[in-house]
Amino acid sequence: MTSLPAAQREVRLLTKPTGLPALEHFEVVETPVVPPGEGEVLVRNLYFHVFATLRILIAGATQDTPFPVLDPGDTLVGAAIGEVIEAPDGVGLRPGDLVSHWLGWREYALVPSAECARIDRTALPDPVAHLQQGWTAYAALTRGVELRPGDTVFVSAGGSGIGSMAGLIARQLGAGRVIASAGSREKAERLRSELGYDAVVVRGEESLGDQLAKAAPDGIDVYFDNVGGEQLRAAVDAARPGARFVLIGALSGQLAADSTGTTAPVELDSLPLIHKRIEMRGFSSDDYDDKNEWTERFGTWLRAGEITFPHVLVKGIENAPRTLLEVIEGRHIGSVVVEL
Ligand SMILES: NC(=O)c1ccc[n+]([C@@H]2O[C@H](COP(=O)([O-])OP(=O)(O)OC[C@H]3O[C@@H](n4cnc5c(N)ncnc54)[C@H](OP(=O)(O)O)[C@@H]3O)[C@@H](O)[C@H]2O)c1
Repeated sequence: MTSLPAAQREVRLLTKPTGLPALEHFEVVETPVVPPGEGEVLVRNLYFHVFATLRILIAGATQDTPFPVLDPGDTLVGAAIGEVIEAPDGVGLRPGDLVSHWLGWREYALVPSAECARIDRTALPDPVAHLQQGWTAYAALTRGVELRPGDTVFVSAGGSGIGSMAGLIARQLGAGRVIASAGSREKAERLRSELGYDAVVVRGEESLGDQLAKAAPDGIDVYFDNVGGEQLRAAVDAARPGARFVLIGALSGQLAADSTGTTAPVELDSLPLIHKRIEMRGFSSDDYDDKNEWTERFGTWLRAGEITFPHVLVKGIENAPRTLLEVIEGRHIGSVVVEL
């Protein structure tokens, strides 16, 4: 049996914030590492994903997510990649296997074996690439709106984990003009130069509708909506006849400081929806189980240098709470991952 370290660190919710979280709401604590109990796998986490909408669970709202609500004293959760240290017989896992699971935010995790999925180490060139959210973006663009070559695509929050992949995948699938939104001019410039967007509109500046009209003078065919709110309204105005909208997220409400993040109200003029025959579809990649198609395609594109995996690596669990606040503030581009 492998000798286990005496202790490991994890990030817990200390108190519930009333608005958006701050550093004072988290604590990094040390706990003993214990061998797995019945039906459990002990995993040494290597990486975990930091995503902004964790704030909804911190705020105490359930929504329709696979995660539990977090109470003070609970360890935070999120997608993680790790290496099996100990596994019971008969679960198809062995020490040394690379696995994915949902118990991030800790250095060692005791994961129910049914919630631990083995990763084929040869599928993607870098293990951290298994934490990208390209599957959601790919499924939405291929199953949700069936992107067509030449389409003009608008991706709101085009620098987020999912948004950055959506922009790159849209291009790869033959989109014509690809436009993003971002939270600052500086970020907009980076999205143009680093991710290759043709134009980027900036939220919080002059009318988003005017900016989008300039960015897409002939209108948009596809709207990949991570945000809702005024960006959804601007997209309706900019839509071409027959435009297809795929609604992925509602960050304008989910990250609103004055709510728990479970509503994202927006006033829409329904007449253009009718006149332009706009198709609008709420979408969840959880409804599809053919993720292998994406992983194979992504691996092929990565190896051929046809796509990148935009991400930021932050070293050390002690930096994870600060990193979550930065993700909520939109300071990073791509998927944000803590490396342990
Ligand atoms: N439908 C599905 O299957 C599915 C699956 C997973 C996740 N999701 C959803 O997908 C969306 C994107 O998730 P993600 O992981 O890509 O996000 P993320 O990487 O955590 O990034 C969050 C982004 O939010 C933006 N933001 C911050 N404050 C905002 C505000 N007040 N209004 C609008 N945008 C704000 C920031 O970009 P800027 O500052 O640059 O605007 C930031 O980049 C979320 O709504 C998530 O719940 C959907």
